[in-house]
Amino acid sequence: MSDPNTHPPYVLAGRSPEIEKIRRQAARAGCSSAPVLLLGESGSGKEIVARLIHEAGRGGPFVPIDCGALVASLMESELFGHVKGAFTGAAESKPGLIEEADNGTAFLDEIGDLPLEMQVKLLRLLQEREYRPVGSLAWRKANVRVIAATHRDLEKEVSERRFRQDLYYRLNVIVLRLPPLRERKQDIPLLIEHFLRQLRRPYSLTQEALDALVAYDWPGNVRELRNAIERMTAMNSGPLLHSADLPSPVRNHADAGRSQLLALSAAVNGAGRASAAPAAGSPSVLPLLELEKRAILDALRQTKGDLVMTAYLLGIGRTTLYRKLKEYNIPR
Ligand SMILES: Nc1ncnc2c1ncn2[C@@H]1O[C@H](COP(=O)(O)OP(=O)(O)O)[C@@H](O)[C@H]1O
Ligand SMILES: [Mg+2]
Repeated sequence: MSDPNTHPPYVLAGRSPEIEKIRRQAARAGCSSAPVLLLGESGSGKEIVARLIHEAGRGGPFVPIDCGALVASLMESELFGHVKGAFTGAAESKPGLIEEADNGTAFLDEIGDLPLEMQVKLLRLLQEREYRPVGSLAWRKANVRVIAATHRDLEKEVSERRFRQDLYYRLNVIVLRLPPLRERKQDIPLLIEHFLRQLRRPYSLTQEALDALVAYDWPGNVRELRNAIERMTAMNSGPLLHSADLPSPVRNHADAGRSQLLALSAAVNGAGRASAAPAAGSPSVLPLLELEKRAILDALRQTKGDLVMTAYLLGIGRTTLYRKLKEYNIPR
């Protein structure tokens, strides 16, 4: 599938405080030529941020290098090039990706997957700004800005000796952490809008479908959300997308939420009857307001305080939930 996000203009959609912070950090990082390290789960937007940093900077080529996809035996020559006759089949000399990125940016994606011997060569490039093509005796100068990214916990990789500590320190100068999408759910409606616009699909979603998309946890982060929107619009003539059009993991999650709600209201009703019974002569029902307060407290407990999920479980809007929390003096 072609990804319009690999072409300019690069837009980082979202208004959450987390994304605003990343936007500011990217603009600032663009003014420097120190290495940048981007951390975050897969699909959380590391590559798009790398492109933004590059664009905010001095320009030149942007060369993405997927360290996890390079074939081990060819890696050195892919990165640093080789001279004629360096190995069998090297009939001509060939520039590597680092040379291609000269006066620009090399984006070393999944740097945690780089083997130790390559890490040494990369460290030399970062410290001395020089490298040696395979088969060459002479060092070459390179003026390359390095932006590295990984979904791995690099500190752990260092402690387990899979990642060189010296390289880690060298990369750990400007660090941007992209939070997973489930920690900034307020961006989900904006991202959906952004993708629908980008895909040139004049679709809209029912409130129920939108609520289900917000309630879902998106383990594949923004990439998974984008794919879901693309698939939904490809498979439905629209223009309104309903819950039934949602990908099955999202729908299953929403269904589970709904049966949780049913169980919850059964439990609340049961508890109401049980607690009301012992008081002789008192009516066997709880006042509606008391029932409502209990339902909210129960839902908050079940969702561990997740307000979006709580509103969803209770079948009310978020604004209504906020109002009721205030009414009943329930702290958020
Ligand atoms: N905040 C965002 N706004 C718009 N598109 C985004 C955003 N974050 C991620 N994307 C898109 O989601 C997909 C995955 O992002 P990517 O940067 O490749 O993630 P990562 O490199 O962390 O795996 C890409 O299509 C990217 O353009
Ligand atoms: Mg990526």
